[in-house]
Amino acid sequence: MQAFVQRFQKGLLALFAKRYIAGTERSDALRTARSLNDIGISATIDHLGENVKSQDEAESAVKEYINLLEDIKNSRIDAAVSLKLTHMGIGLSEQLAEKNAGVITKRALDLDNSVCFDMEGSAYTQKIIDIFLRLHKAYPNCGIAIQSCLYRSAEDVRLLINEKASVRLVKGAYKEPPDIAFANKIDVDKNFGIVMNELLLKGHKPAIATHDERLINEALKFAGENSIPKDSFELQMLLGIKRTMQKMLAEGGYKVRVYVPYGTEWLPYALRRLRERKENILFVVRDIFDPRPSLSRQPLLRLLPSPSRHEP
Ligand code: FDA
Repeated sequence: MQAFVQRFQKGLLALFAKRYIAGTERSDALRTARSLNDIGISATIDHLGENVKSQDEAESAVKEYINLLEDIKNSRIDAAVSLKLTHMGIGLSEQLAEKNAGVITKRALDLDNSVCFDMEGSAYTQKIIDIFLRLHKAYPNCGIAIQSCLYRSAEDVRLLINEKASVRLVKGAYKEPPDIAFANKIDVDKNFGIVMNELLLKGHKPAIATHDERLINEALKFAGENSIPKDSFELQMLLGIKRTMQKMLAEGGYKVRVYVPYGTEWLPYALRRLRERKENILFVVRDIFDPRPSLSRQPLLRLLPSPSRHEP
């Protein structure tokens, strides 16, 4: 019975995950990136995986990223890559993760591409920043995500601006204790606004990565008031979230980049997306009981609803 319940739960999640994940294969991610390019949006492709348990697993992730970078180049798709240092083996050894991330970042540099290091749970924040700073000296084509939920982030961003590093500002997807992180969403959002303005004014190709319309509007207003050119920053969003807004911003001349995850290790990513929004449970239930093809099963371009339609 327990095995049945577990299989049922995983089945539900698989249905839910379809909305947020390009597919299990590299070719799925490339196809999705190309569809985004067709409507003026760049991609950053993430090969899903985290917290690897062996050196072999980490090395196989490196091989996949190298193939991905080569495929991006050969197919002339406008896509960078994003990676997690726990996928590169930081949980086994920091040296291993630094070596692996360095191999990928160097290959990206050779191929005229860039790599963003995702930020993970706070047990790794300092280690990720340390490895990033060392690699960034050799490979300026790498950038890093910073989470506005952490008290430390404003200070981290100041340091990264001094290093001329490209920062992707996010709210943070991991549950953190109150001694290091804002407990209330309102404070996470307020800190996002403060750090965002600092990045827009002084950052090096910063990315404002949120689906929060109020913060996006604030960013555009702040950029306009301070004569910050539209092409000096990016607005980034996740695949499957606020598609109309992504398209409208791109049409408005802003640089928009969408995070496109693919791979078989989709469960932790899908769980983070599920946790972010309680209404997502309803999507899961609707997908199961509604026999009509769900939005999440249609190709991207047909997913774009009219601007008046309510969107999650
Ligand atoms: P918020 O949670 O306030 O959501 C604003 C609105 O967006 C919601 O009201 C809803 O309409 C919509 N929305 C948000 N999440 C949704 C969901 N799951 N499903 C449907 N609608 C949803 N985090 C991290 O810790 N490390 C990282 O490296 C990254 N990297 C990253 C890259 C990019 C490009 C993005 C956009 C985000 C990340 N994140 C991340 C995730 C980030 O920290 C955060 O958890 C999510 O972006 C959700 O927060 P919002 O900023 O969208 O605001």
